[in-house]
Amino acid sequence: MQLMSKRKILITAALPYANGSIHLGHLVEYIQTDIWVRFQKMCLPKENGHEVYFVCADDAHGTPVMLRAEREETTPEELINQVHNEHLKDFTAFHIEFDNYYTTHSTETREYSENVYRKLQTADPSLITTKNIQQFYDPDKGIFLPDRFIKGECPKCNAKDQYGDNCEVCGAAYAPTDLIGPYSTISNASLVLKTSKHFFFRLSDERCINFLRHWTQKENHLQSEAANKMQEWLGKTGQNNLSDWDISRDEPYFGFEIPDAPGKYFYVWLDAPIGYMGSFKNLCTQKNINFNEFWKKGSTTELYHFIGKDILYFHALFWPAMLEYSDYRTPTKIFSHGFLTVNGEKMSKSKGTFITAENYISHGLDPEYLRYYYAAKLNGTMEDIDLNLDDFIARVNSDLVGKYVNIASRAAGFLVHHFDGHLANITSLDYEGPIELKELKSSVHKLHHELLNEIDPIQAHMQNRRYNQAIAIIMALTDKVNEFWDQQKPWEKAKQIKNSPTKLAMNHPIKFSLHLVSSITIECFKILTILLKPVLPVLAERAESFLNVDPLRWVDLKKSLEPGHQIQAYKHLITRIDRKKINAMIEASK
Ligand code: 2FM
Ligand code: ZN
Repeated sequence: MQLMSKRKILITAALPYANGSIHLGHLVEYIQTDIWVRFQKMCLPKENGHEVYFVCADDAHGTPVMLRAEREETTPEELINQVHNEHLKDFTAFHIEFDNYYTTHSTETREYSENVYRKLQTADPSLITTKNIQQFYDPDKGIFLPDRFIKGECPKCNAKDQYGDNCEVCGAAYAPTDLIGPYSTISNASLVLKTSKHFFFRLSDERCINFLRHWTQKENHLQSEAANKMQEWLGKTGQNNLSDWDISRDEPYFGFEIPDAPGKYFYVWLDAPIGYMGSFKNLCTQKNINFNEFWKKGSTTELYHFIGKDILYFHALFWPAMLEYSDYRTPTKIFSHGFLTVNGEKMSKSKGTFITAENYISHGLDPEYLRYYYAAKLNGTMEDIDLNLDDFIARVNSDLVGKYVNIASRAAGFLVHHFDGHLANITSLDYEGPIELKELKSSVHKLHHELLNEIDPIQAHMQNRRYNQAIAIIMALTDKVNEFWDQQKPWEKAKQIKNSPTKLAMNHPIKFSLHLVSSITIECFKILTILLKPVLPVLAERAESFLNVDPLRWVDLKKSLEPGHQIQAYKHLITRIDRKKINAMIEASK
């Protein structure tokens, strides 16, 4: 990684809908992104001129929010405020540290939505067009219905109460208009087809197709599996598989009205990604950051979007095309990930595996357990990851409590008891003394370098979001440190010191060796703490106060703690996962 040139990086995670709670599935993405952001911030510190920002927002618009507000006898504005507070509380609990967490229902997002729309409209020839289309209308509610609120009889097998896109009984796929006797799931009214004028982004235009063919395949904008998917969607050269994109909805709708088109609103997916700009603009105003430097065409800053694979279409096709033709820069890379399964299956309410963030926290489970487990599983691809609850308990207890934290508790006792917490000089190799101490010095040196040698590979894995491989190396290193400790048997030295009739001098070989073994073990613990810090930021903070050091960063990996530096007495850093809490959480989720 270039550490010298000053980098300016903007990172986003997908905007969660403002009509539902954050659950463990959502957290795969926010935890993944937060780890990457923290890693960048630790490697590219602000004081050296690097700038790294992480923004997100609630995705506030659309029919579901409008309907829920109505059901709850409140206004959409009140509802989205309340949900915004809940979301932010959940994210904060899981240590997701946004630089700004905003909402798409903002003046900034409105302004950029209108701006993008105007630019597309005034392109020559215009990239906006209108068409009359027929859609299902709920005459009782007086609204056009999104497909998810439409049910009817399957046209193939006549199963009743099937959704508008596919039949759960026979598996047939069809359009909502193919349903027999379509009805509204909100009012139960029979639906009627009604014609209305819609606005379209002309994605099928040659300019867009050619641009997207190029953009989706070059400069690793997308992971290779995503790029291949795009090639399928775009079809071969000469073919045109893209349809124009319907960007308007009729009133009543909770969103932004389209300029000069009374009663027509921007479809929620038009202003959602523009919400990335809106949230960032809001941050720029607070912190005096140059918005244009990050967003204008030709920008040399970096822009990364983390998303789920289900919304790849929006981010890899619609979004870059919108930006390209409205004079903004396009993303540097889009990182998409898979879904979460729990115990090998889709999350399920009846099995109690549809677990909300709030439910997890309220059962007293440490959010860092989950951060660690997800990190140990995430591999940078679009594959799904599984939260196996037995494995979760076993792994966290064994890796974090049994291996990592154990290192600190073992070494701290001797250091504090025999040396008042002061560290020995672990780096000087000029000892001229008994042969066994020469050997000890060389095994100390060897252990230290075994850790230092893995920094580059770990950094490369983190950078490429292969957290699982980084964690595997880190855990192999914790094993090495524990093995070293067991081989050195420092408790035998401590016993000899205790049993010695006279007080041993500091440079007595027995005392010296206990000091050295405990000190290198603490140095290794410091290194492991830095490596784990993007994943376990709060545990790292506790470790820092135990080590009595300022917030650790990547540069501290290679700077050993000073000889004579004094650590604190060991206090509990993390507790084991209690299976009872997991069971109670599952019960409460049912
Ligand atoms: O799929 C979703 O949950 C959307 N709310 C994501 C929007 S991401 C961005 F485009 F705003
Ligand atoms: Zn069917």
